[in-house]
Formats: sequence, structure tokens, C-alpha cells
Amino acid sequence: MKLRQWTTVGVVAVATIAALNTVPATASRPYDPTAQSLATLGLRHGLHVGTAVSIDALNDASDPQYRTLASSEFSSVTAENAMKWESLEPTRGTYNWAPADQLVDFAKRNRQSVRGHVLVWHNQLPGWLTSGVADGSISKQELRELLRKHITTVVKRYQGKIWQWDVVNEAVSDPWDTPSTLHYKGFWAQNLGPGYIADAFRWARAADPKALLFYNDYNIEAFGSGNPADDKTQFVYDMTKGLRAQGVPIDGVGSQGHLGTQYGNFDTLQVTAALKKFSGLGVATAFTEVDVRSQMTAGVQAGNSEEINPRLQASAANFSVLMKACLAVRSCLSYTVWGFSDRHSWVPGWFDDPPEGLATIYDENYQPKRAYQELKSDLIFAGPPYVLPRLAPKPRR
Ligand code: XIL
Repeated sequence: MKLRQWTTVGVVAVATIAALNTVPATASRPYDPTAQSLATLGLRHGLHVGTAVSIDALNDASDPQYRTLASSEFSSVTAENAMKWESLEPTRGTYNWAPADQLVDFAKRNRQSVRGHVLVWHNQLPGWLTSGVADGSISKQELRELLRKHITTVVKRYQGKIWQWDVVNEAVSDPWDTPSTLHYKGFWAQNLGPGYIADAFRWARAADPKALLFYNDYNIEAFGSGNPADDKTQFVYDMTKGLRAQGVPIDGVGSQGHLGTQYGNFDTLQVTAALKKFSGLGVATAFTEVDVRSQMTAGVQAGNSEEINPRLQASAANFSVLMKACLAVRSCLSYTVWGFSDRHSWVPGWFDDPPEGLATIYDENYQPKRAYQELKSDLIFAGPPYVLPRLAPKPRR
């Protein structure tokens, strides 16, 4: 036998031994989808399962499990705070990129997509900006120019690294605001008028021709009365339709999905119907900040299982409703949870009267809760006709 043939035999032998080594293990351990991560299971559907990431938690050396789960369970990440204007430009003219860069690097290392959050929002603005407008030292004209510059600077820095940008966040009022008729609310609408929305999308597109540009808001999981005066979903739908009709480069609508077990919430088909209606406008959809909080009654805090169980079940059911609706509609590109563990959820700090919590899919000790298992089951058991490749729109120009 010539050397070449021996080599071939050797390669085959090695390959066979390798195969034999794995076969018995494989045979005794058949493919077990329950052992797969949410990320892996989601990608069978072309769906990214993501999480918001806290940079502090990521850097906490005493909390390695946070990093492990953030990198292994999710195929997409969102900066919980690091890309907000107050974090990026705490002092006028001086950008602090390090935490946002860190997240983008983390995502690259772990082959994750990044949802950029957020370019234009009325909250978490730098003090110099809001006080400058309040005391008149920043004129309306200058404010508009500052916004254009901010969007351009941030989007250009991360050009090619951001899959979806939340360009405008929470621009629309709620029925409990004054006036109760739904309207464009907050700092930007008050100072620049609602035209800032179209401007923001155009500026973002000019800075990155490829990122998918999203409008993002809460309480838009399902349609209500259909009257835009009191149905926020309808209001956002009409807004999106109007923007598209004007040729504004809006590619997607993100439904945050901050739910609470004390509310009625929605069933899967109601949410599916809403996603379908938005897709009818030619836009992508996504759940961008899902969590399902509960009231922390004295009984819950004392560990009373009769009070805890129904909350955990209701929470799991609501996580699942949004996931099933997302799986059912091909325009739904990603499902992101707003923090994955009760150890690091914004809920207790934000909703404290009455106290709320238990909002995420892992408990404070990183044990998966029912919500996690339900999301996993939804991803495993979704079969035809709901095994549907996602259809991303071409970034609009
Ligand atoms: C929250 C963060 O989770 C908190 O850490 C921060 O103190 C306040 O903002 N909608 C959004 C998110 O779009 O940016 C908010 O994040 C939650 C509500």
C-alpha cells in the first residue's frame, strides 16, 4: 500500500473511532431539546431570544452566573441602560462609550445580535440637556440640532454592529395621562412637536443604511376599542401607517411587553392578531422588554406558597402568550426579556407602591422558574404550521 492509501485508511480509522466513541453516547442520550438553551431553540424558528443586560451585573466578579446565563441562554442582547443618552453623554460634548462598547464586544464574543436601545426617549436624558432647555440656554433650534448630532454620532459609532435600533421610545401617552385623549407626550413632542419622530428615523437611516429601525412602546400588545383616542395600539398603528406612507424609514414596531399578573392582559390570539396587523404595514415586529411582575403582598414576602404559586403560574402564562403569538407571526423577529433574573430586575426598584416583583424567568438564585420552562416548551412544541422562517424586511431607505 502506498503512503497515500495508508494515510486515507488512517484518517478513516480515526474518524470511525471518533464516531464509535460518540455513537453509544448518542444512542443512550438521544437529542433532548429540553437540554438546549432558549437561544438554540429560538434559532430553529429563526427567532432571536434576547435579554436586557446590566453592565454592573456583567462586571460583578462575585456573580459569574449572570455572565454565564447572559452568554449561553440568549442570542440577542440589549443594553439595559448603557446606550441611553444620560449614560453616553453625561457631560456635554464628552461621550462615555466604555460600557456600551463592552456590551457590543460581549455580544460579538458570544455571537449574539444587538438591539440598540435607545436613541430618542424622554427619560434618562442628561441633566445638562433638560436643564438647558428649561432655563432657555438651549433654544428649540439648537435642541433639534443636538438630537440630530446625537443620533448620528451614536448610530455611526456602532454602524454594522446593531441589528435593530429602538429609534424612538414611548412617544405616545396613556389613557391615565392628562389629557386622557391619546397624544404625543413628553420632552421631545413638547419642545420639537411630533415631527421629531420622522426626523429621528431619517437621521438614523442616514447614519446606518442597514440597521432595522424600530419604534418601541408599552401597552401595545393587543388592540382595544379601535379608537385612537383611547386605544394606544391603534394610535401607534395609525402613526406607523402614516410614517410609512410618507416614506419614513421605519422598519419595525417593538412591543415592550411589560405585563403584570394583577391585570387582565391578553390571550395568544389577541396578541397574534395585533402582530399580524402591524405586519400588514410591511414592518417587522418584536417583543423587546418582556417581564411579568406581581404584587409582593405580605403573604408573598413571607413565602406563603398559596399566594406565590398563582403569581408564578400567571407570570409563566403571560410570558408564554407573547412567545406563542411571536412564533405564529413571521414578522416577529425577536423576543427579548427585560432582565432574566429576579436578582437583577428593574421592577422592585421601579414599582414600589405597592411593592412588585417576581417579574423575570429565573429566581434570585438563578433557578429557572415556570416562565422559563414555558418559554422553552413553546419553542420546542411549536410545530407546523408554526415552524416558520422569519421574514425580515429590507431596511427601508
Ligand atoms: C429601565 C431600566 O431597566 C432601569 O434600570 C432604569 O432605572 C429605568 O429604565 N421602558 C424602557 C426601558 O424602554 O429603557 C426601561 O428600562 C424600562 C421601561
